[in-house]
Amino acid sequence: MPRPRQLHDAYFHRAKAEGYAARSAYKLLQIQERFGVLRRGDRVLDLGCAPGSWTQVASEIVGLGQRAGVVGVDLLPLSIAPPPNTTAIIADAFALSPEALPGGGAPFDVVLSDMAPNTVGTGDDLRSVTLCRRVLELARGLLRPGGAVVMKVLEGSGYAELLRDTARLFAASKGHRPDATRQVSREIYIVAQGFRPAVRGAPARPGPAQQVSPAQQVSPAQQVGPDAPREPSAPRTPSAKGKPTGRRKPPESPA
Ligand SMILES: C[S@@+](CC[C@H](N)C(=O)[O-])C[C@H]1O[C@@H](n2cnc3c(N)ncnc32)[C@H](O)[C@@H]1O
Repeated sequence: MPRPRQLHDAYFHRAKAEGYAARSAYKLLQIQERFGVLRRGDRVLDLGCAPGSWTQVASEIVGLGQRAGVVGVDLLPLSIAPPPNTTAIIADAFALSPEALPGGGAPFDVVLSDMAPNTVGTGDDLRSVTLCRRVLELARGLLRPGGAVVMKVLEGSGYAELLRDTARLFAASKGHRPDATRQVSREIYIVAQGFRPAVRGAPARPGPAQQVSPAQQVSPAQQVGPDAPREPSAPRTPSAKGKPTGRRKPPESPA
């Protein structure tokens, strides 16, 4: 008889104890430990940011500074108070335009996407690939040359082609399953570094803008500017095993 799914595993309890909004925090920390995608001073776009654990991790790594900050976007609000270098916007990634984002279209160093479709059983993998293709489309308009993308996809139809298309846009790209991923999950993270925007076959630029009203913004944006291209780097701090700096109150219910 199959064993029932364990909802509250060790990562859940650890997230609660360490003040993260969700256990997903450890997936990003483990990706960071392996690939070093985020750097101090980076400007980061976090798509599918709610309830907020990736935003917490990213904001701790990039720190405070003139350029540093995280812009989170989700259909839903964060369940945590946004960290000081963070702006959270309630919006649909498909209706997002660079001009509507804090920073007035200034380039990002890293685009993260933990976006997931509502799972219904059939076609979930294809809907997940569609979200990733939107991430690549946004990256083309928002990511600076040399920048990085981390995006979640459900392995299945369309995954191999998505990985191939991603590889054409980046110096290095790879599918990776962090240890914190639940064993029953089909999710995998594509980690792509060294953005090469001039490559033929790149997806079209992001579509028309949806104006995001100031009332939807949870905290002030960090003004940013362009930076020099960056190639894939060696993994850096903080460790998935260690606790990043600056603590928060424990969340109500880590997912
Ligand atoms: C697994 S959760 C993200 C967890 C988050 N990274 C964290 O660590 O707290 C997936 C999120 O994707 C968001 N999402 C799904 N489709 C979206 C879309 N089209 N635009 C923006 N957000 C979307 C959902 O609302 C949901 O909050």
